[in-house]
Amino acid sequence: MKEARIAEGGMRYAEISAEGFVMAHIPNSESRDPNVEHPPVLLREAVGFLAPRAGGVYVDGTVGGGGHAEEILKHSSPDGVLIGLDQDGDAVRRCQERLAAYGKRVVVRQKNFRDIDAVLSELGYAAVDGVLLDLGVSWFHLKMPERGFSFALDGPLDMRMNTGVPHTAADLVNTLPRRELARILRDYGEERKAGAIARAIEKARARGPITSTAQLAGIVSSVSPPFPARRIHPATLTFQALRIAVNDEMEALREGLNKIVHILRPGGRVAVISFHSLEDRIVKQFYAASAKGCTCPPKMPVCVCGKKSSLTILTRRPVLPGVEEVERNPAARSAKLRVAEKKNDDPSCA
Ligand SMILES: C[S@@+](CC[C@H](N)C(=O)[O-])C[C@H]1O[C@@H](n2cnc3c(N)ncnc32)[C@H](O)[C@@H]1O
Repeated sequence: MKEARIAEGGMRYAEISAEGFVMAHIPNSESRDPNVEHPPVLLREAVGFLAPRAGGVYVDGTVGGGGHAEEILKHSSPDGVLIGLDQDGDAVRRCQERLAAYGKRVVVRQKNFRDIDAVLSELGYAAVDGVLLDLGVSWFHLKMPERGFSFALDGPLDMRMNTGVPHTAADLVNTLPRRELARILRDYGEERKAGAIARAIEKARARGPITSTAQLAGIVSSVSPPFPARRIHPATLTFQALRIAVNDEMEALREGLNKIVHILRPGGRVAVISFHSLEDRIVKQFYAASAKGCTCPPKMPVCVCGKKSSLTILTRRPVLPGVEEVERNPAARSAKLRVAEKKNDDPSCA
């Protein structure tokens, strides 16, 4: 794989981590410019699977910079409807502005996609034709140091996508028992040095609260092998784990998927783009479980469980970005798209 190189006078870390790639590809002069767009990942593939059509109703549950949403609107012209959700208020404002020209065809709300059922019922939709989730953070998060997602730019240790939720990454780092911190780093970061990092955090916070991203990155770096031996910045997995914990990302995904399956019309599709193995595993297992019908033991003469298959998996293997897309946008390199289609409620489809 081609390594992203640090642009002249650019960010310090530009290696294999998604954040490093993102930072390396935002020219310095633009690094804090909110008008630099988040490049939508697997755009053609995701929208191709959703196959938007005139008259259809679609939900972009992670509307972010609005790239996928706008493509869905174009393909469902002249009267398809797009409901965009994002838990980040800044993203919502940006999208409302970007998509204003589509008028009544667009509704953008600051909501977590785990509440998709409530939003749709508020808006008066009983069912929809397609749902897209493009998980994780956007460029806007990573390049705004004040949001605290970046170990490459110093800022307050925040990491909340929804700034209305009570706990920041600093709260977790400064108050959780060491063992719980280690569990988070292990479960959400798959960090092999979770125990040692948690111990270093405990030692550091005894001297005073850990308040900035650079401070935390420094503590983690003191434990891990020196960069670049590890090829990613030593704090990459710690930052990922804390971000997932702060935003309760795994639970939101599980809840969201469970609800999406119920709000899709027969023939409607759900497309999920994930960026790490934890998310991808949840999506893959959810699709597999929903595609499976009766789970009674084979000896059972008649079905007693009553479980019916509700989804057909359209991507046996995940769809990955092509070489060209990764060259253009290296942050896309770990993306995986999985798509499934809602089955007919007809009991013969079990
Ligand atoms: C990768 S970006 C999406 C980019 C978007 N597809 C585009 O074309 O610009 C992910 C966005 O999803 C939002 N997000 C992440 N988890 C969410 C959740 N559970 N509910 C709502 N929004 C979420 C983030 O705030 C972020 O803006």
